[in-house]
Amino acid sequence: MADIVEVISRHVELRRAGTNFKGLCPFHEEKTPSFMVSPDKQIFHCFGCGKGGNVFTFLIEIEGVSFPEAVRTLGRQYGVEVAEREVPEEVRTRNENYYRANEFASRLYENLLAGTRGGDRARRYLTSRKIPPEVWAEFRLGYSGPGREQLYRAAQKEKRPLDVLRELKLIVSHTDTKGYVDYFRERVMFPIHSASGRVIAFGARTLEKDAEPKYLNSVESPIYSKRRTLFGLHKARDAIRESRSAVLVEGYTDCISLHMNGFVNAVASCGTAITADHAGVLRRLTQKVILVPDADHAGLQAAVVAGAVLLGAGIDVKVARLDPGADPDTAVQAAGREKFGKILGGALDYLEFLDYIMKDKPPTPREREAVIHRVTAGLAEFGDRLRYEVVVQDLAKILGVDAEVLRGRRWPKRGPGGAPGAPENKAPRGTSGRARLEKTLLRLLMEEVPGAAEAREKIDSDDFSDEKCREYYKLLDSAWDENIDLGSSTFQHRAEGSGLEGLAAEIALVPIPPGDQERLLRDTLKRVKGLKIRDELDVLREKLRDLPEDSEEAVAYVEHYAHLKRALSEL
Ligand code: GTP
Ligand code: MN
Repeated sequence: MADIVEVISRHVELRRAGTNFKGLCPFHEEKTPSFMVSPDKQIFHCFGCGKGGNVFTFLIEIEGVSFPEAVRTLGRQYGVEVAEREVPEEVRTRNENYYRANEFASRLYENLLAGTRGGDRARRYLTSRKIPPEVWAEFRLGYSGPGREQLYRAAQKEKRPLDVLRELKLIVSHTDTKGYVDYFRERVMFPIHSASGRVIAFGARTLEKDAEPKYLNSVESPIYSKRRTLFGLHKARDAIRESRSAVLVEGYTDCISLHMNGFVNAVASCGTAITADHAGVLRRLTQKVILVPDADHAGLQAAVVAGAVLLGAGIDVKVARLDPGADPDTAVQAAGREKFGKILGGALDYLEFLDYIMKDKPPTPREREAVIHRVTAGLAEFGDRLRYEVVVQDLAKILGVDAEVLRGRRWPKRGPGGAPGAPENKAPRGTSGRARLEKTLLRLLMEEVPGAAEAREKIDSDDFSDEKCREYYKLLDSAWDENIDLGSSTFQHRAEGSGLEGLAAEIALVPIPPGDQERLLRDTLKRVKGLKIRDELDVLREKLRDLPEDSEEAVAYVEHYAHLKRALSEL
């Protein structure tokens, strides 16, 4: 029988805790481990998010596979037949409903692309991008037509469960009519498949030239987790194994374009930064990954981080360089198969790439520190201390810093209540206490520490006194709204677009003290809001001083004053 500890260890770093094992839950974001595995009972349970079950439930959840697939996977590895009755029935039916709903939507979108009504607009667009009809079929590209209720009506007619469509955000409630409308409209639909080839989500690109947002993406669901999913993997898996390498790009169209030109081992992240989970998925297929970043600042910065995360997973990372301003799509179309093959062949080793980045545009001390931070954090994410030490040596040389300094820096201990192994780095200079506090709040929100979602409900951009922090918060808020990953280059682009890249680097460097992150967030939020209320009280006090006590205005101010006082005490 497949040992649950062994199976889960492939996905989660487990440590012994008495008779059980403990680790960071792969099903929700957490910083301190609440995910337990019991070898005796052969079950797992997360005290943080409540997920639990046996080895099959685990595989079904984490790999998004069906029960028979999970059985087959384990059967292959252990040569054991398992009886059907082990099926966690609820999980299977629930997931099956999600798969079916996505399949239903995907068919509809495919038909709309082929259809006469409106479809020609999307067809023209794809043709202008040099993506031919065979490729539409291969990747099951589609079009969410111009109608507001096409999917909704079709689902109604066929008596499909609307709540499932709503949970997948394929349809959304319509405020006026109490009914539903389609979420995706007039967009080219890129279905995202699980490794076993079922549709689990969509990326949807606008047809307009500079419309924002360029992409709308599906929300996460029990069958779709961005941090684990790679676009194109169902088509690329065999080629990755055979060629012993994977090509990793950022865009869906980049990935498709590479496949079209014979680079069938290409995959893309789904609008997120590369995570240790992605690295784990790739590592099981190959030793070698070639990153092909967009040749702009954001793309290269993303590659610095992605490379560090992959390297931390024990992957041999290469980075291909394109002409400035190019992306893999335009590059492969311009160069053709053979020349592009040479570009991949000439990819730099990751550390060489770092070296090149450092020399190409000599970074300011602050930028250099940001690189160090990103790389060390990326390496640390995987938790392999030995590897970390080795890479740190090279890194220190490239970055021209003392290896000791680097090594001592931030090895985050992840044990329960873990004390940090590293001394805190110094505060960014020249920031007032208050701005500093606001940056800490932003950092905690960026890290999406536990409680960040609730905190967001309580914060208003006006709570920030520092103008740049206020702008940055607005950026964060809209990214959350649009479901844009904070680690993605899309987010970085936006920060740059708003002239906030300096602040972004600074925020990334704000030290977070160890301990209960949720509480720290709560306290920081309270202090930021408290200062804001005190400001308002000061203003009111000023105003009241110059007013006759019984004037209407004064009475109103006094009321407001009392209200603010109350708010302050209730924080
Ligand atoms: P084209 O511009 O059509 O070539 O698209 P692309 O796929 O190359 O996109 P781009 O390089 O601009 O962005 C890379 C990836 O980031 C996309 O494939 C998406 O996954 C994601 N992305 C880009 N823009 C947005 C956006 O506005 N919102 C969200 N949520 N994701 C985005
Ligand atoms: Mn692109």
